[in-house]
Amino acid sequence: MSAVLDPVSVLSDRVNAMAESATLAMTKKARELAAQGVKVISLSIGEPDFPTPQHIKDAAKKAIDDNFTQYTPVSGIADLRSAIAEKLRRDNNLDWKPENIVVSTGAKQSLTNVLLALLNPGDEVIIFSPYWVSYSEMVVLAEGVPVLVTGSLENDFKVTAEEFEAAITPRTKLVMFSSPCNPTGSVFTEEELRKIGQVVERHENIFVMADEIYEYIVFEGKNFSIGSIPSIKDRVITVNGCSKGYAMTGWRLGYIAAAKWIADACDKIQGQVTSGTCSITQKAAVAALTGPLDDTRKMAEAYRRRRDLVIGKLREIPGLKISVPQGAFYAFPDMSSYFGKSDGTNKINNADDLAMYLLNVGHVATVSGAAFGAPNCIRLSTAASDENLTEAISRIKTALGNLK
Ligand SMILES: Cc1ncc(COP(=O)(O)O)c(C=O)c1O
Repeated sequence: MSAVLDPVSVLSDRVNAMAESATLAMTKKARELAAQGVKVISLSIGEPDFPTPQHIKDAAKKAIDDNFTQYTPVSGIADLRSAIAEKLRRDNNLDWKPENIVVSTGAKQSLTNVLLALLNPGDEVIIFSPYWVSYSEMVVLAEGVPVLVTGSLENDFKVTAEEFEAAITPRTKLVMFSSPCNPTGSVFTEEELRKIGQVVERHENIFVMADEIYEYIVFEGKNFSIGSIPSIKDRVITVNGCSKGYAMTGWRLGYIAAAKWIADACDKIQGQVTSGTCSITQKAAVAALTGPLDDTRKMAEAYRRRRDLVIGKLREIPGLKISVPQGAFYAFPDMSSYFGKSDGTNKINNADDLAMYLLNVGHVATVSGAAFGAPNCIRLSTAASDENLTEAISRIKTALGNLK
């Protein structure tokens, strides 16, 4: 008989240092409950609940019929990189050539490529917090050190330029954030980003990773791209993709636009790891980026309506502190007034306990804010039907009401 292996001692320090995705873990638990016959409403996953628009699906079908099924250039096919360059000019006031663009298998891979390309062990990455769960783990994977700088609920969770500058050290290599933000739904204004840009301008060794994947889901005005500030343009890596704006999560298409030497480094890494993303997806993405935005606008309008519905209903629950999301499809209430309470069986010590209680007792899957750097909050996805959202918040209200 062979000796019992201790996986932790065999696995790399790299993987042992990483946390499992809290969002996916919660989704798994919700599925387990559902398999037992419990009617769980899932508000845990960050995924549009709309189908991919028809013209995009048609382009993919045509790509298959045309036998467009072979390896593509690592950084993406020429017509897609041109379409992205054109889209960045049209929507973001960003002037990049196709050679500055690298298409990847989701924005997740785009972000990881850049971190692997820029970080040496011990380099610090300032992450504006609350932040999307994967950022810190990607930094750890690239042997960098995540430095969380937390925005206050009173400022809609947005980090100020002063707070950012105070966190800079000689080891700071990069600052990264999403705007619109997952999990808070906050959106930096042009003025706020210009102030952050001035800090970057003063610190000439710092790079910016601006994740704009939710750019089309903004409820007032238009998203501003920090990369459009000419004085720091060469130090800003703009990340975007098709997942959220075109309801294409399963197709796996993300991209960066950056200085050519950064794009070339990402191409080099990706060339050894995955090569170009799916050829069919790339043709679908050309249709998405060059086609009409009517469906995208309709989806954004639905998310705005649901935001209003959810925030209105959450306001009826005593003891919550709520900031009103300006974009994306999440609500992120502070529920810490329920910590220390119990329903007689379940004692709620923190947001992890509360998310588990809401799942097991209220039958609503949410995600604890702890995974996002906000241990007082709970994240609810608003990418669900009005009916499910209304029912879910009513269940949450009842479950919280039983805590004394
Ligand atoms: C802020 C943020 N960036 C990037 C991604 C990843 O997107 P993709 O599906 O393109 O990998 C997500 C997905 O949830 C996200 O919330």
